Amino acid sequence: MRSRVNVAVAGATGAVGNEMVKILESRGFPVGHLKLLASTRSAGTVLPFRQKNERVELLEEESFKDIDIALFSAGASASKTYAPIAAASGCVVVDNSSAFRMDPQVPLVVPEVNPHAIAQHKGIIANPNCSTIQMVVALKPIHDVARIKRIVVSTYQSVSGTGKKAIDELLNQTRATLDSEPAECKVYPHQIAFNCLPHIDVFMDNGYTKEEIKMINETKKIMEDDSIKITATTVRVPVILGHSESVNIETEQKILPHEVREILSKAPGVKVVDDPGHFQYPLAIHAAGRDEVFVGRIREDPSIENGIDMWIVSDNIRKGAALNAVQIAEILLEKYL
Ligand code: A2P
Repeated sequence: MRSRVNVAVAGATGAVGNEMVKILESRGFPVGHLKLLASTRSAGTVLPFRQKNERVELLEEESFKDIDIALFSAGASASKTYAPIAAASGCVVVDNSSAFRMDPQVPLVVPEVNPHAIAQHKGIIANPNCSTIQMVVALKPIHDVARIKRIVVSTYQSVSGTGKKAIDELLNQTRATLDSEPAECKVYPHQIAFNCLPHIDVFMDNGYTKEEIKMINETKKIMEDDSIKITATTVRVPVILGHSESVNIETEQKILPHEVREILSKAPGVKVVDDPGHFQYPLAIHAAGRDEVFVGRIREDPSIENGIDMWIVSDNIRKGAALNAVQIAEILLEKYL
């Protein structure tokens, strides 16, 4: 194992990129040189890292010389252009965009679920969609015991998943509405303050949104089981940080709520919060800033033979994006560099 590696963060000024930098520092990742990359909009600004201010540089073809690991979160088009260039220059890319996730040559990895897939990488490893990551962390341990046949998921996704500009839009619209002024919509097609939008990413010909299709396809790829039937409805809600999900599963073998609680209480990366009698269940405001995937409201669904309902919440910027990417980098460092 290398004692120090040079790391680049592409999209370092964004909501996820900035969190990646903080997590590299807080987990003591052995960074030799850190290169922060963004567009012309913020090249030249500085970000703190280990008590120093690091300058943000322009993301360009030459950016990856002498870099060992590049964490990308600058959007799919920047990834499509620069990730292959970075990989060709000899570094391993962990890409948070959707650009390569379904590419059969590219492993799609959640460390608690399929860390072995990292071994297959050819220079690029994809970080899954935020709402998919938290769901598979909670469902894989159940799948291993009772085999999940079908998943019905509805999400309640925070605006930070869209980026910093969406957080500003929610706050501005909230202030405007409270002041009885018109809410300006720049990021979303409708007002998000005091509202829910059943629309994340673009609509497809089949009526699903791309976010819903991502959840369906990525779940099968990460769980390495194409036979699981999945349907998803993804909804943007006026929450700043933390995605919540209502998840219904149908299993092949009967599994009872107390057994699910027991399995999940031992599962890596999961914390069971399930004491409705004392109003204890996962909440976005509690998950914000935390690393775990929180699961609660675990109960039997009596409308089908082997059904379980649950409520899954996690910090979409941390486990849903930045933390998952850094965990992949940690495995790379430990086993493959
Ligand atoms: P910049 O600050 O220069 O706009 P978010 O998702 O929170 O909006 O952040 C997106 C991140 O990706 C930002 O760091 C942004 O940099 C960066 N980014 C977006 N497009 C590009 C691009 N074409 N080249 C480099 N960085 C980009």
